Amino acid sequence: MKIFIDSADINEIREAAMMGVIDGCTTNPSLLAKAGRKIETAIPEICSVVDGPVSAEVVSVEYEGIVEEGRRLAKIHKNVVVKVPLIAEGLKAVRTFTQEGIKTNVTLCFSASQALLAAKAGATYISPFIGRIDDTSHEGMELIEDIVLIYDNYGFETQVLTASIRSPYHVVQAARAGSHCGTMPFSVIKQLLKHPLTDVGLAQFLADHKKALEKAK
Ligand code: G3P
Repeated sequence: MKIFIDSADINEIREAAMMGVIDGCTTNPSLLAKAGRKIETAIPEICSVVDGPVSAEVVSVEYEGIVEEGRRLAKIHKNVVVKVPLIAEGLKAVRTFTQEGIKTNVTLCFSASQALLAAKAGATYISPFIGRIDDTSHEGMELIEDIVLIYDNYGFETQVLTASIRSPYHVVQAARAGSHCGTMPFSVIKQLLKHPLTDVGLAQFLADHKKALEKAK
């Protein structure tokens, strides 16, 4: 499963990229606001650090505006993927972008029926928000299983990009379900790495190494 960092904070994006574990990056207006960045300057900087797809989200909700904004974003860098909300005007724009060879990430997906329509419109990625579904006392991961099954049944090329990931367990569940990609905060990427037995084992090896050096004196 491809791992994307869900962030507009260039420092943490750079740190994750240096670890060699990220395949791409996703941003949204809330993440840009959190990082105090404007999309026009943040996206080129992220593209210079991340060697893979970088999602940049439009804020227009009418077809013409989405297309104009998306074309402008796509011109920033070859790796830009235009992120479009899952509304009727958004799907019209996705169809146009697909005809023009512009990659799209259809976002704010909360149902399999929405995901089916996004795939039919030609979306490159679909972003189901599993954490936000969990927040409503429903099983977010069931949506990933449904979408993977439906896309497989009909050979859709749209990639499932599990989003709103909140924990390492979400990542493992998404990978088990066959999600093509998962996007997650840097905090979750760091949690994926952690295991107490790794830390205990390393401390032991270092202590034994020190002892061995002392003995050899
Ligand atoms: O990629 C979508 C993501 O940013 C939403 O996550 O935690 O705000 O539901 P969250």
